[in-house]
Amino acid sequence: MSFDYFMYKGVRFSPGSYSEEILNFAENEFQVLDDDVYIVTYPKSGTNWMIEILSLLKKDGDPTWCNDVLIWLRAPWYETREGQSQIKDVLPPRVVTSHLPFHIFAKSFFKSKAKIIYVLRNPRDIIVSLYYFSKIICHYKNPASFDKFFEDFVHGNLLYGSWFDHVKGWMQMKDNSNFFYITYEELQEDCQGSVKKICNFLQKDYDAKLIESVVKHSSFHAMKNNKMSNYSLATEEFIDHSKGSFMRKGLGLLRCIDEKETARSCPAVTLQSHSAF
Ligand code: A3P
Repeated sequence: MSFDYFMYKGVRFSPGSYSEEILNFAENEFQVLDDDVYIVTYPKSGTNWMIEILSLLKKDGDPTWCNDVLIWLRAPWYETREGQSQIKDVLPPRVVTSHLPFHIFAKSFFKSKAKIIYVLRNPRDIIVSLYYFSKIICHYKNPASFDKFFEDFVHGNLLYGSWFDHVKGWMQMKDNSNFFYITYEELQEDCQGSVKKICNFLQKDYDAKLIESVVKHSSFHAMKNNKMSNYSLATEEFIDHSKGSFMRKGLGLLRCIDEKETARSCPAVTLQSHSAF
């Protein structure tokens, strides 16, 4: 199927899940609730990992909900065509997901007491992850080559715009008490400590048993083997399962530095020159 991305406020979106009307609703009319928690990310930053962690926290570490309900129904993307209908069935307190850049985010958030957890991942791994993701997701354009894809990433020509702008935009919020950010790498390095920090931010009491259960049931291995979380049940309209799987490698920069694909393809100097901080 051939299609073109369209621009909304300087950012590229796919007509598969978006339209100007849908984005306009997300930005200007969607009602944020005070007890909502938003997971905001640039794609491939660990969005679904955070959904799993928050799903487990919501159920006090009990994995039943994660094992019974599809991940995208537990925390819908409020800005997509599908998500705007799915979210109607979610009872508060809601966990809501978004890839939107700061300047397009729901205006009602800024008048609410809702919270945001922003997850960042190093751009080298995002490029590789997104490259393979773009090959399997039907609403993404199939990359012509890795080199062209790399150029498009660096110049902000991919879906959801520039990673650099996304991070820069959202990090304006870093001193706000209802905004918490964490990196994919920190989650990998110290998942227990990260979950404790998330609990503190959400003002949720925890004990060792809760933390242990959340870490265990949100591990890469657990999610890869959970059909409700690994996207194996996503329809062929969304994912071409013959071309790869959503739970790809789950490696961070430090762990995959030997991987030829990452080290060879992403010259550090190019990325440093675009530093978002
Ligand atoms: P890779 O493609 O590098 O393997 P998102 O959820 O934002 O789309 O991010 C997807 C990336 O996070 C993929 O990275 C995926 O494998 C990884 N991922 C998903 N769940 C994970 C987990 N529990 N632990 C570590 N990485 C995970």
